[in-house]
Parts: sequence; structure tokens; C-alpha cells
Amino acid sequence: MTNPLAGKDILTSDQFDLETLESVLRWTEMMRIIEQTGRPCDLLNGNILTALFYQPSSRTFGSFLSAMQRLGGGIIPIQNVDYSSVIKGEDLPDTIATFASYSDVIALRHPDNGSSLIATDATEKPIINAGSGTSEHPTQTLLDIATIENYVRRNGRSRKELVLAMIGDLKNGRTVHSFLGLWPTYTMNSSTVYCVSPESLRMPIDLLRNARNAGLEVEETTDLNEVVGLADVLYMTRVQKEWFKDAEEYKEVKGEYVITPETMERAKPEGEMILLHPFPRVDEISRDVDSDPRAQYMKIQIPYGLYTRMAILAAVLGVEEEQISGYIED
Ligand code: CP
Repeated sequence: MTNPLAGKDILTSDQFDLETLESVLRWTEMMRIIEQTGRPCDLLNGNILTALFYQPSSRTFGSFLSAMQRLGGGIIPIQNVDYSSVIKGEDLPDTIATFASYSDVIALRHPDNGSSLIATDATEKPIINAGSGTSEHPTQTLLDIATIENYVRRNGRSRKELVLAMIGDLKNGRTVHSFLGLWPTYTMNSSTVYCVSPESLRMPIDLLRNARNAGLEVEETTDLNEVVGLADVLYMTRVQKEWFKDAEEYKEVKGEYVITPETMERAKPEGEMILLHPFPRVDEISRDVDSDPRAQYMKIQIPYGLYTRMAILAAVLGVEEEQISGYIED
């Protein structure tokens, strides 16, 4: 099968049909094997990634750089645009066009929702949306779903039966927006989703409507206790301080939901549920929960960020599946 993502941009989570999603999941598993066996790999030798980040990041920035170098490629790491000519007033199209001259792919994080679309107009090179405003974070969603697929396979579950609960700041969180965009495809339109948030931080209505139109059962509640025992996937999120205009408003909602060992006592047992979080965490998951085997954010989800981004970079840069399987079979 020809690589469906060769030369493509990665802009939104809902751009993936089931076949393409399956290929990303398959490639991610192959990248896990390559990374874990620790053998040098030169699949992307001769290619250069620009990681252009207008907003802070630890995981996305670090894993993109690691992914490119694990595959033998080079990097232009720009984690703080204040040290670039952006500080002199250079706009996004000129900045993208410049770095496109020096590299083969650009991973862009930017505070504006429409930033990655603007970037695609400035270059023919692939743009990977590494987080745009409050709207999208598609590579996070791919790694989240790869983490869930890992759980499904290890525990003999069916993805179609999974009940999802998303908790926290569902208004401002780009991870949950992208997640809800791809979840119907992954679960083949058959999941139940609970959206748990304070009234002021509800999931945008258009995203709820899209998920329902895709066939999902979607319910909203403010009460985590109502749903904690029903969920197979508990997806916890941080209240996104950076998007609040009023500090008092943030203080009112920031401690609304906290996952503690007592919360986990009411959740399904090991093998029947997992707890995820895209991170960074502030205080919405107590550290006592980290050693719970159902807590997969450190052990599985963060490493899958690396494997998934290795897969995405290889895909958009035109590697074919046989080349990757060749590395594994050697
Ligand atoms: N999940 C995520 O996007 O984390 P960073 O902001 O650290 O990249």
C-alpha cells in the first residue's frame, strides 16, 4: 500500500479516515520496536525538521526533536521565537517561507487557531500542526489513540465498546477538541462519551454536534462522580490558565476536579480502564495515583508521543511501509 500521508500536511484530527489512522497506528508500533531495540536508524537521513514553537512546550517540542534524530534526520529547534526575527515584527508567512527554505518539514505551535492553515499557504513543504490556539492538537490525539490501542490489544478489548469520559477544561483544551474529532473514526462511530466540566468550561457546541452526528452517544455533566465508574478511558485535563482573561475566574474553577486514590477506588478495575492525561499536569491528578497500574500517562502515553511522532515524520516525508518493516526484520 502506498503511504497515504506522503507530502501531506497534518492540520486537524478529523482529516484521518480509518485506513489512514490504522496505518499511523501500525507505523507507531513499528517505531516503538525500532526505538526500543536501540539500533541506529537512518530512514530520514538527509531530511531536516524545523520545530517552530510560538508557545511553551516540553513534550511536543522534545518528542519531535527526538523523533527526527532517532530516524537519522537533522533539526532546527526554535523553542522561543523571541530569539528569532519574529521579535522584530516578521509575520508568520515570511517566517514559514524562510524556514521552509532550510528544512523539509515544519512542526508549528502557535496561539492562533488558524495558524497552520496560514502556514500551508506559505510553503509547499509539509506543515505539522503541533498545537494551534484552542482549536487543534492532532498529533497529541494520534498519540492518545495509539496509547488506547496499546491498551485495547493488551487487554483483549474491543475499541467499539469503549466508554470515554473527558474531564476538565473542555472549552479551551485543544487536546480534547482534536480528540473528539477523531474518536468517532477510531471507535467506528459506536462509543459513549461523557463530557465532564464546570458549566463555564463546556465542550463547544459544534464539536458536540459533530460527534453526535457521527453516531456517538454524548452526554454532558458537571458531576465526575456520576461517570467515574462507567468509563473505560478517563481522559483528565488541566484547566488552561493561559486562556483566562480574569484570574479570579480561573481560581474559581481550577480545583473543581481532582483525581485521587479515592476517585480511583470508584473506577473500574485494572484491565478494564485506563487513566490518561495529555500533560502538563498542575494538581488535577494527585501524585499518589501515579503508581496505580491504570494510570498510563507516564508509562505509556508520553513514550507513545515519541513513537507516534516518529511515524508521522516518516509518513509525511515519504517513507514507505516496507522500508520500516525492513528495519525491524533485519
Ligand atoms: N501535551 C502537550 O502538548 O504538552 P506540551 O505542551 O508540553 O508539548
